[in-house]
Amino acid sequence: MAAFGSKTTSEDLQIGIDGETFEVEEMYPAYRDVAKMQKEYAAEVTFRFAWEAEKTHVELFKKAKAGIDEERDPDLGPIRVCEVCGYTMEGEPPEKCPVCKAKKERFKIYAG
Ligand SMILES: [Fe+2]
Repeated sequence: MAAFGSKTTSEDLQIGIDGETFEVEEMYPAYRDVAKMQKEYAAEVTFRFAWEAEKTHVELFKKAKAGIDEERDPDLGPIRVCEVCGYTMEGEPPEKCPVCKAKKERFKIYAG
């Protein structure tokens, strides 16, 4: 069980990395497979979208932790989220979301 708030920022970020990694490597693939087996296609798509978003969360947490561990501000660009599928990214959005193919206008700035 993860505990937040009583550790260093680096330790908290590692907890986040570990949790997101579990979701990417085990949780969402299992959810997706069950949805597929049960022919719940809408759920399968939703879990695939969540799985793709969690992959980006792992990388963003790692980048933030690297900055903290080097005693500098994390070097993160503007963070954008696809409002259709939740795909999260840094920088300028592509013409189409790589996960759900939504147009770039569907990316909203979350932070940055
Ligand atoms: Fe998307």
